[in-house]
Amino acid sequence: MSSEIKAKISAVGHYLPDYVLTNQELEKLVETNDEWIRTRTGIIERRILKDPDKASGFMAAEAAREILRQRNMDASEIDVIIVATVTPDYMFPATACIAQSMIGASNAFCFDLSAACSGFLYALEVGTNMITSGQYKRVLVIGSDKMSSIVDYTDRSTCILFGDGAAGVLLEPADDENGIVDSIMYSDGDMSSTLIQSGGGSRNPASHDTVDKKMHYIYQEGRPVFKRATEGMADVSVEIMKKNQLSGDDVDWLVPHQANLRIIDATARRMNLDPSKVMINIDKYGNTTAATIPLCLYDWKDRLKKGDKLVLSAFGGGYTWGAIYLKWAM
Ligand code: ACO
Repeated sequence: MSSEIKAKISAVGHYLPDYVLTNQELEKLVETNDEWIRTRTGIIERRILKDPDKASGFMAAEAAREILRQRNMDASEIDVIIVATVTPDYMFPATACIAQSMIGASNAFCFDLSAACSGFLYALEVGTNMITSGQYKRVLVIGSDKMSSIVDYTDRSTCILFGDGAAGVLLEPADDENGIVDSIMYSDGDMSSTLIQSGGGSRNPASHDTVDKKMHYIYQEGRPVFKRATEGMADVSVEIMKKNQLSGDDVDWLVPHQANLRIIDATARRMNLDPSKVMINIDKYGNTTAATIPLCLYDWKDRLKKGDKLVLSAFGGGYTWGAIYLKWAM
């Protein structure tokens, strides 16, 4: 990054619903078992937002409120709100506008970003460039997904994977060398049909037929996605390490998207990282899509030290994938 101005993460906030959906409860819904889910995915439980009147916008607003409290800042001081989500409150207006209204961030301009499980990384890349441009000083980047709103709880291959939650960060200009250092982002639309919610958009507008055909739920071909996710996350993580002359010993933390413990383990092995340096909370929350990476940052924030070298890495529907290298600035 050539700009004189660097961006840093100056606060982290989150929101998790109270309801805990355990593997045992899923055993009652579909033909599955705790042992299969744990060994094939690493998931033990996930959170579900039960209140039908609350959705991704509410969770994003709660995460934003926690960030503002942490920075002792008024919502009116926020310049931009980016919400990464595949479960927006509505097709439009943007969930970022819903969250803006809830927190009263009247001076912010707001938009959503859709990149499935890579949504937070993509949004962090966009937000970072808004800071380094010099035009914006306070950018909220939030990942929020109410995955339970698009999960088919009769499909055992997907319903075990996902949970609800939100988390995010505040980006501000850095005061020293700590902050976002580098990024690599990729997309490949050729395989989009293997991981898709095909109903409800302009291609297949909502109708009795789309509902009957379950087109408003997540459809995933697990095996090809698993293969590409494992390759993609490991390759891009190793690529960003090489580009920045980092060895496994130099990296303090891998902050991986939490889709499957086996994908995370494979990525850490390729990076030559000690397992103790890998943030893992998939056991507690499952795959919360755009929220997984900031939820890790939130859970680990008290253990992170200024100057720690973090590699954030994700793969998701699209396909979309990427990695960000940063030096922790808090
Ligand atoms: N319980 C018990 N058995 C099951 C379950 C279940 N919940 N689900 C599937 N099975 C069975 C299958 O029917 C299959 O049985 P068969 O051999 O008799 O046909 C067997 O288990 C193996 O099925 P696979 O699909 O090959 O299982 P796999 O080991 O691939 O695990 C999983 C499935 C967990 C979905 C895995 O493929 C995966 O993690 N994929 C990648 C997910 C991902 O990274 N997605 C990207 C991000 S998500 C986003 O962007 C929104």
